[in-house]
Amino acid sequence: MSTPRAGSHGTHRVPGDKSITHRALMLAALANGRSSIIRPLSSLDARSTAAALRATGADISPLREGATVTVQGRGIRQTAGAILDCGNSGTTVRLLLGLLAGRPGPIRFTGDRSLRRRPMKRVTEPLGLMGARFEGDPDRLPLVMYGGPLKPLSWDSPVASAQVKSALLLAGVSGGVPVSVREPVRSRDHTERMLASFGYQLDIRDNTVRMEPTGNVTPFEITVPGDPSSAAFLVGAALLGSRGEATIIEVGLNPTRTGFLSVLARMGANIATSNLRTMAGEPIGDIAVKPSRLHAAAVTSEEVPSLVDEVPILACLAARAEGESRFDGLAELRHKESDRLALLAHNLRAIGVEAAAEGDSLVVVGTDRPLRGMVRTDGDHRIAMAFSVLARSGRIVIDDPECAAVSFPGFRAALTAIEEECG
Ligand code: S3P
Repeated sequence: MSTPRAGSHGTHRVPGDKSITHRALMLAALANGRSSIIRPLSSLDARSTAAALRATGADISPLREGATVTVQGRGIRQTAGAILDCGNSGTTVRLLLGLLAGRPGPIRFTGDRSLRRRPMKRVTEPLGLMGARFEGDPDRLPLVMYGGPLKPLSWDSPVASAQVKSALLLAGVSGGVPVSVREPVRSRDHTERMLASFGYQLDIRDNTVRMEPTGNVTPFEITVPGDPSSAAFLVGAALLGSRGEATIIEVGLNPTRTGFLSVLARMGANIATSNLRTMAGEPIGDIAVKPSRLHAAAVTSEEVPSLVDEVPILACLAARAEGESRFDGLAELRHKESDRLALLAHNLRAIGVEAAAEGDSLVVVGTDRPLRGMVRTDGDHRIAMAFSVLARSGRIVIDDPECAAVSFPGFRAALTAIEEECG
């Protein structure tokens, strides 16, 4: 939601962070008592998590943009026989598999067409080692989980994935056992920060996190920072403008999430952060953006986990930058809400941009020619939003712009506000 505040021209706010909202809802449901979540995300994905937690016995007030949500948690006890429809949300299903792995089954997990094609073995394999049992293909939804007493786990994850890491940490929390996870590159650390705030002992060294279940999740109040992944689309829209300046306030600036800002700085973007402070144990601040002439950049595989959801908007900005941009190490993009690597290359070409997916890399050649053509989203919210930003500078038609509601309620209005401001 972009809500210019009275007397503060050019100031915008984005909806609450999706990753933090999912985690706050889950930990509040696990606590015994009443928690408050201030300014959570109310998008379809957040609603999927809330609905699944309600099905296991938590009372959660309706999610509405800007409203505080109250959660009456009961330790997540009513799991046997639960049917959890996780909709489009990978974070919902993977984190819940972990959180509920120590609870009695059968617990049935399902989701929409996109989610049913996404890999689950990355989570079910280590949870199986902890003691959970699965019926059905453990790599695909729908699947049925039977939990029970869990064993400690030390896991070397082949993928840098906060969903995997968080699922295993949450299994350790709800099951009361130590868990250690190593990942090839460090992924977002919101779960670690939240658990540390409850007194859990976390030893984080290099790319390994070790958690001792020494804490207790007690009811809490949290204010959710604005989502940097949503802000990235508005930043992109402002950069492609011709005048003015836009400021997005109270955005999460956790360094495990802000790789896109480093890449944009290398591309010559005029972006400044200010008002840096901490909210809910997370660094936050305001992002001021001026329209800028961009040039091409090279994005390395080590950077990808810190900008994994921002590749679509970065690729669309690269289409308007001078020179040839290259993104390496994008294998994980094939397992997102769509095959984002293939779809980005396809759609860029469909609107007249030279682009190719080569192995796990994406190459985009910038152009200032008018762009026109049809964009296929496959229902992927970030593909829809990234190409909506580009649509201002050409005759581009997006097949399903409404799917932005998966993560960014009010996206269309927010984009229009930025475009009016930055010309
Ligand atoms: C998320 C982690 C990322 C990201 C997703 C949210 C999370 O997925 O793409 O939108 O909240 O943990 P992976 O960890 O699977 O890369």
